[in-house]
Amino acid sequence: MSRNDTEAARDNSNKDREVHSFMEVVAWEAEQYAAGHTSPMSPLLEEIEKYTLTSTDYPSMLTGRVEGRFLQLIVSLSGAKNIIDIGTFTGYSALAMAESLAGDGKILTIEHNPANADIAQAYFNRSPHGAKIELRQGEAIDILKSLPNNRYDLVFIDADKSNYLAYYQESMKVLREGGLILADNALWYGRIFDPQDEESKAMAAFNEEVNNDNRVEKLFLTLRDGIYLIRKALQQSS
Ligand SMILES: C[S@@+](CC[C@H](N)C(=O)[O-])C[C@H]1O[C@@H](n2cnc3c(N)ncnc32)[C@H](O)[C@@H]1O
Repeated sequence: MSRNDTEAARDNSNKDREVHSFMEVVAWEAEQYAAGHTSPMSPLLEEIEKYTLTSTDYPSMLTGRVEGRFLQLIVSLSGAKNIIDIGTFTGYSALAMAESLAGDGKILTIEHNPANADIAQAYFNRSPHGAKIELRQGEAIDILKSLPNNRYDLVFIDADKSNYLAYYQESMKVLREGGLILADNALWYGRIFDPQDEESKAMAAFNEEVNNDNRVEKLFLTLRDGIYLIRKALQQSS
């Protein structure tokens, strides 16, 4: 391809981007394609997804198949056994991770909305993996602060955006060395590029803090609404 051809192709692809990425950071077609090429989830998780999409006020809060399968693979591949799930909602992420967790593994899932907690607990009670999940109702920051340090293998952050930085700081305390943090909605629908409202500013500040933190390895994934995958570094022995 000549230089002019290359530039013409780049111009065309920029036009394409203007047309297709007005609101969605990751194209809807790509999302659908990804879901269609990802293993289906268990019947109970599919039921939770259907219920959440049809019967709750905020169905977009659900992680869903692609992210759920990603969480399951991370749990399996990392061998995580002590997990914290911040933001239970209808129970999808907690149950997805529980299904991939070893029999002696535990998930602490945190939810401050009693109605959501009741819905999630009813699903956990129906699952053979439900006994691995402890649901605690309350403010996530208070519960995180009450947990022992250097104990947990993985934290999934998926609650109120204005507290992400506080959740990150507390997660760094409770995680063991080499432990993982996965922060959902790191793209925040693209609003982090030019943050205007408080939540978007908080998400942009959170992303910058992680990026500048030399205690961690990080990988910013553009999966769904963005997942910041963060690993607490191992201490160097001198
Ligand atoms: C995006 S949803 C979580 C989605 C869930 N992880 C899933 O896989 O479907 C966020 C949840 O966090 C809860 N939440 C928001 N702020 C909270 C807080 N300060 N403490 C505890 N839970 C909170 C909300 O009530 C909501 O159920």
